[in-house]
Amino acid sequence: FKIPQVENEPMRSYAPGSPERKRLEDAITKMKSELPFDVPCVINGQEIRTNATGKQPMPSCHADHLCTYHKADEATVKRAIRDACAAQKEWEDMPWNDRAAIFLKAADLISGKYREQILAATMLGQGKNAWQAEIDAAAELCDFLRFGVKYVEDLYAQQPPKNAPNTWNRVEYRALEGFTLAISPFNFTAIGGNLAATPALVGNVVIWKPSPAATYSNYLIHKVFLEAGLPPSVIQFVPGDPEVVVQEALKDREFAALHFTGSTAIFRMLWKQIGEGVGEGRYRSYPRIVGETGGKNFHFVHRSADIKNAVQQAVRGAFEYQGQKCSALSRLYVPASIWPQFKEQLLAETAKIKVGPSEKWDNFMGPVIGKPGFDKIMGYIAKAKEEGGEVLCGGSGDDSKGYFIQPTIIQTKDPKSVTMREEIFGPVITAYVYNDDEIEKTFELINTTTDYALTGAIFAQDRSALIKASNALRHAAGNVYYNEKCTGAVVGQQPFGGSRASGTNDKAGSMSIFSRFVSARSIKESF
Ligand code: ALA
Repeated sequence: FKIPQVENEPMRSYAPGSPERKRLEDAITKMKSELPFDVPCVINGQEIRTNATGKQPMPSCHADHLCTYHKADEATVKRAIRDACAAQKEWEDMPWNDRAAIFLKAADLISGKYREQILAATMLGQGKNAWQAEIDAAAELCDFLRFGVKYVEDLYAQQPPKNAPNTWNRVEYRALEGFTLAISPFNFTAIGGNLAATPALVGNVVIWKPSPAATYSNYLIHKVFLEAGLPPSVIQFVPGDPEVVVQEALKDREFAALHFTGSTAIFRMLWKQIGEGVGEGRYRSYPRIVGETGGKNFHFVHRSADIKNAVQQAVRGAFEYQGQKCSALSRLYVPASIWPQFKEQLLAETAKIKVGPSEKWDNFMGPVIGKPGFDKIMGYIAKAKEEGGEVLCGGSGDDSKGYFIQPTIIQTKDPKSVTMREEIFGPVITAYVYNDDEIEKTFELINTTTDYALTGAIFAQDRSALIKASNALRHAAGNVYYNEKCTGAVVGQQPFGGSRASGTNDKAGSMSIFSRFVSARSIKESF
């Protein structure tokens, strides 16, 4: 059977007065009246409540928390692993069409019945405004699931091109032996669902450790998977402390793969530990390691750029979701010849931004996720000033009720200053004004100032300048955009991921990532 035609999930605009806006508002009101929720570990479809709990505060209003979650203890993690592994054979043996149907149904449930509830959880729990929640928890998540099914179908269709007489050669794409550990971040509900669903689609079982700051939305997604018919032990929902969940998983002989999105430092640490385990012969197989980590993303503006567009894209690329996207713009390179105009427009556009609780419709920016993030971002702004950076706008924050930081633009004369080098994960642009006759030197700076290589954008109307920049920056970003901001990759359209310190570049939203979670078996049959 062929799967149905796959399309991107249509996005809703939530126009004032529209029924969709009303439905979302009602869902937020209902959620606020019911919180805090109690989130268990969900092992084999059963809710497990442990004695150790954590809280997911609401970043717009940190006196309140969205949920209390039960942290898995060692015994719970061990049981989750054992029972997932016991369920693996039956899951892998399930005909592909039936596995696919479960995830297609899950996408439809997210798109329809549960959309407002999942959006409300993402808005209140992760501090997204309605549109940022919509592109993430509705559109991107549905796209990951539906296009995931299509990509797996395409992968399974990859077969040897040649059969000698009286033979039939084929390749079977088996699941990995053992379980995948999925460790997901707070900033995209869709990434959580996708880190768990991608390995499961190709027949793997998964231990899913969500981010504490996205527990409730991720729990709802797991519930949807179960409602869609996922056998209960295939994806185990295991919130808890990394020292317990991750460490138990990495000790286990059946550990087969890591599917990770998070910081570079943690990823390196896990890789090292996995390497040691391999060295000791701890695991049945060499584990697969798939990770998407940090970014220090750039916009390179050429003097031929359409300034108005480049300014608008910079504002959106840097400040949407408070800059808490691994893809967010952070380093802005503008030539001296157009900087006066550019700066004037950039400051005027940024001045229009309203910052406040994410569920209020006119707030373009909401809070950053929590106290450590708030302190880190404010710390970077302070360091930039110490190093002689000029704060052109913003620079202030208020964490008395929620974790709010004003959109901040720093101009630096030092292209290697700290906020040009290190990931901030907040609403901060550092701008460097380059001499028009030093374009090559600027490419060199973009390439070498950081270890990251996730996203970037080039703004130029002069085609040859654009090509020159694109070639010079070939390895500086896994996703590059011409005349558009460096965020917002769409599944099915721009496979997403970076190299160098930004990740293994296996490209979420592509066929290639599925090939990392299968172990091929060649079959030759003679007649
Ligand atoms: N995939 C997300 C983006 O492109 C992170 O912005």
